[in-house]
Amino acid sequence: MPKAFYITTPIYYVNASPHIGHAYTTIVADVLARYHRLLGYHTFFLTGTDEHGDKIAEAAKKAHVTPQEYADKVSSQFRRLWLELSITNDYFIRTTDVNHIKTVQNILDKVYAAGDIYFGYYEGFYCVGCERFYMEKELVNGLCPDHQTAPEHRKESNYFFRMSKYQDWLIGHIKNHPEFIRPERYRNEVLAFLREPLEDLCISRPKNRLTWGITLPFDGNYVTYVWFDALINYITALGYPDSDRFHTFWPVVQHLIAKDILKPHGIYWPTMLKAAGIEPYQHLNVHGYWNVDQSKMSKSLGNVVKPLELKDKYGLDAFRYFLLRDMVFGLDSNFSEDAFVQRINSDLANDIGNLVSRTIAMAIKYCNGRVPQATAPCADEDRPLFESAQKAIREVRSCFAELSFHKALIAIWELINLSNKYIVERQPWNLAKEPTNKNRLDTVIYNLLESLRIISILISPFMPTTAPKILAQLGIEDSNSQNFETIKEWGGMPAGNVVTRGEALFPRIELQKEEAVEPEGKGNQRQKELTPMKPEIDYEDFEKIDLRAARVIEAEAVPKSHKLLKLKIDLGEERTIVAGIAQHYKPEDIVGKNIVVVANLKPTKLMGVESRGMLLASDSDQGLTLLSFDRPPRIGAKIR
Ligand code: MSP
Repeated sequence: MPKAFYITTPIYYVNASPHIGHAYTTIVADVLARYHRLLGYHTFFLTGTDEHGDKIAEAAKKAHVTPQEYADKVSSQFRRLWLELSITNDYFIRTTDVNHIKTVQNILDKVYAAGDIYFGYYEGFYCVGCERFYMEKELVNGLCPDHQTAPEHRKESNYFFRMSKYQDWLIGHIKNHPEFIRPERYRNEVLAFLREPLEDLCISRPKNRLTWGITLPFDGNYVTYVWFDALINYITALGYPDSDRFHTFWPVVQHLIAKDILKPHGIYWPTMLKAAGIEPYQHLNVHGYWNVDQSKMSKSLGNVVKPLELKDKYGLDAFRYFLLRDMVFGLDSNFSEDAFVQRINSDLANDIGNLVSRTIAMAIKYCNGRVPQATAPCADEDRPLFESAQKAIREVRSCFAELSFHKALIAIWELINLSNKYIVERQPWNLAKEPTNKNRLDTVIYNLLESLRIISILISPFMPTTAPKILAQLGIEDSNSQNFETIKEWGGMPAGNVVTRGEALFPRIELQKEEAVEPEGKGNQRQKELTPMKPEIDYEDFEKIDLRAARVIEAEAVPKSHKLLKLKIDLGEERTIVAGIAQHYKPEDIVGKNIVVVANLKPTKLMGVESRGMLLASDSDQGLTLLSFDRPPRIGAKIR
């Protein structure tokens, strides 16, 4: 029996069109699903739309259509978007589907029969945006903390789920299963919430106020609260209770959500499952928020980023790559089109794009357009390339296990960069000048083609259209014939394959407008217009500068600053310095780096933080790059 993997996204509300946040979660789920298929897992990938409740009823009313018509329209927008983004979901669920309605009523009956649903009276503050009641102490200045709107005060009789009964069980389960909710910060958030007594959950809405929902099977005057309805989608789609699919996939289910819906998934859902006699899910994977220009996306701010526009402008794989490369799973990230374009030009056009076009061009020129035999004995100088490929495969696997997608991509790019370096160092054009070098030349070209094959497999979950394009250039038409099994050993590239040139994978994007207005000393412009040299100085003057080798121990953004990072460094002693590199390095990317520091600069305060030293950096095509060492330095050593 192959191993099974089941991944779900939230089912999205149909009251607004999809944006980059929805696209991110669904693309991450798709990357995970594709990755597990490559490993040979029996995979089920679920997404869908959440269509009941006040929010949808209100949006439909405003649009002068029925809720069902409204839901049909927006649900199909989501479906279309997933097709455009090459999302490989196995099922698309809608909470208005008949089988879902039946499953919700089945669970309600079960929990009611077990005595965990009771009728009671409720008075409280209700936020329609969140579809939930708030306790007074949860409000901020009387407003919903998420929507900054005044909640409605509602009094009504309703049905309640005895959630409080399962509080101790849930705390125990989370404590005994450290990976139940991950990353850890969200596990801690749920545990912190559970330190307060848990209230029972109001799970109905009277029909005299809301009819757009699933009727309670034991009281026709009420519909089901939208969260109690929605969460159940994850088992409906598997054909709960009796289908094989349910038995295969439920034990391995992993949910993927953003931090906004941690509470319903971290608290309501496991207690609902427990009450219904169903095993809890295996993992709840929680990611952060995409913000735009450091603020939350919102219609009123007019900063909603539309995935289709980006995909149409820059291409699908570039879009998927950027989202996965620029967000550290679990943390918030800031979307900027400039950063996106920089990534396209450096990582895609420059690194992988060039590697593919140079390698293919050389195979055509020097090997008559066929994959050559690697006949020369393995040279020591080739070993770093084989080892880098093995390392990339290992790291991709371990990064996926910890949902560290950006690190998986960094590991793949190390192999890409090493392959580019291999071309520069092996100089096939020089080998080609001497017929006696033919075997060596063939081996070098073979190694590059083989490296490309491995790179294609590793990038394929992230970049599903680029991978088959590269493989086709290598003469491998059936990209499905390739997987982790076929890249286990170096040398799987069939000799004799016909190599063909394809169109440029990632053409460079010229940002003419930005370049033209860029102030002196920024970005690409800096490279072209070198600043004039300064006047000569005496050696004694240079001697006054105390340059030291240091290592970054901790890094964090300086609050309210777009440019500054506060770094704790080790330079023989611990120091804090503030560096203007936030637009070029993320805190987590700089920790552990060895840097060069001016250690005797007079302390100064930047945005209220004292800086005792200055790090050195230079310009590059991709923005600032830190001065570093080609071997690990002795920390604190003087730079001579
Ligand atoms: N319908 C509920 C979910 C029910 S699941 C049983 C819902 N829908 S939603 O349309 O509001 O989608 C919320 C989800 O969309 C987030 O959890 C996240 O997956 C995604 N995102 C929405 N905005 C986002 C960002 N700005 N950034 C990243 N993801 C975000 O809640």
